[in-house]
Amino acid sequence: MNFQKLIAILTKSEDRLFDDIVGYDHIKKLFRMVLQSDSTTHILLTGPPASAKTMFLTSLLQHLKRPYFVDGGNTTKAGMIEYLFENQPRYLLVDEIDKLPPKHQTLLLNLMETGIVSETKYGKTREAKLKTSVFAACNNAIKLTSPLLSRFFVVEFAPYAYHQFYEITLRLLVNQEKIAPNDC
Ligand SMILES: Nc1ncnc2c1ncn2[C@@H]1O[C@H](COP(=O)(O)OP(=O)(O)OP(=O)(O)O)[C@@H](O)[C@H]1O
Ligand SMILES: [Mg+2]
Repeated sequence: MNFQKLIAILTKSEDRLFDDIVGYDHIKKLFRMVLQSDSTTHILLTGPPASAKTMFLTSLLQHLKRPYFVDGGNTTKAGMIEYLFENQPRYLLVDEIDKLPPKHQTLLLNLMETGIVSETKYGKTREAKLKTSVFAACNNAIKLTSPLLSRFFVVEFAPYAYHQFYEITLRLLVNQEKIAPNDC
């Protein structure tokens, strides 16, 4: 076994959760606490563009077991229902949730309220009881129906202050672009 493989095994995947995200320590802590719990919790991240909301969801997608990621602007209700029935994900990650059409929002509300997903097609009804936490993101929660919004613990990201923007840019240049810190 080579050295890098050994390091990968010794470093648990969850320990690297959110590693690429600069700052937001309180939100990282919140997610870590929620992930330790056996119950379902629903979290909505809202805030300005480029504030790392999608980064949180993609990091969760990479490190959690049984996740399902959907983009609110680019998903069909039939596809979503099929996946929920077939795979019964433990975590549903919904980016751009404000772009989900109203029918999808109702499906989501039922899932969050009762855990139940049901579908009636050609006169036949199928139903499943899921244990799924929903983690979602959007710029503005105003387009969500109030019942759906009320089911979420809402976390608002504030716009970056100059020093935060500077720190993030520096980290990205050094870590991703491999530019020496002194050259920045
Ligand atoms: N805190 C941060 N740590 C590391 N990179 C960051 C951070 N904030 C922003 N970025 C950079 O900004 C980019 C955009 O982030 P992301 O797509 O997660 O933003 P967003 O909040 O989802 O924006 P939008 O509202 O437009 O969807 C990232 O790919 C990363 O390069
Ligand atoms: Mg985004």
